[in-house]
Amino acid sequence: MAVPVIAIDGPSASGKGTIAQRVADALGFHYLDSGALYRLTALAASRQGIHWDDEHGVAAVAHALDVRFAGEHIYLAGDDVSHMIRSETIGVGASQVAALPLVRAALLERQRAFAQAPGLVADGRDMGSVVFPQAPLKVFLTATAEVRAERRYKQLIGRGENADLAAITADLEARDARDRARSVAPLRQLPDAHLLETSALGIEAAVGQVLQWWHANAA
Ligand code: DC
Repeated sequence: MAVPVIAIDGPSASGKGTIAQRVADALGFHYLDSGALYRLTALAASRQGIHWDDEHGVAAVAHALDVRFAGEHIYLAGDDVSHMIRSETIGVGASQVAALPLVRAALLERQRAFAQAPGLVADGRDMGSVVFPQAPLKVFLTATAEVRAERRYKQLIGRGENADLAAITADLEARDARDRARSVAPLRQLPDAHLLETSALGIEAAVGQVLQWWHANAA
């Protein structure tokens, strides 16, 4: 029998990562943060002096990516880059390399390999549309741009970093527009995905809703 997958897609800073991770913990499932693979690709390319718009060059980097996920830690060629890949600069690079079809193709099988028993919760932009189209539960998780910018702002301030709310909002909107407008695997809500609007919803409530859909689905 196929390994069950819960596909959670949505825009940047919608809370997908936290919610997907908690759903995975609650079910004892594996967790795939697919955005991290695009971030790692952008970082690895820049370390190798390959421009983010060099499709063949970046695709080769994506194919050869030497990455290890260990709980909260992510290693690139043995180097702990967990913190570094969350920077705004790498976020912009990830969004650029993610628009390149050869790069997406290079990461496809690597993502599918995360589907291991007893199950997987995968978050990203195209989990339900391209990577795991057979997923028995698909969720489109979102919040307004204002709420997402506010969350990202608090996150950065909490880490002791400088943050400018207006700049973060503009950056989020630009990234959303790029993720939605690209020709391959654009971000969109699928007809068979449940919409989870989290602007006025706490993390626990959002996790509870996904688990409820999952159990209703399995019943
Ligand atoms: O979820 P995130 O912010 O870590 O994702 C970083 C970038 O990678 C984002 O701009 C869109 C891209 N991405 C994608 O195109 N497809 C995915 N499945 C996950 C992320």
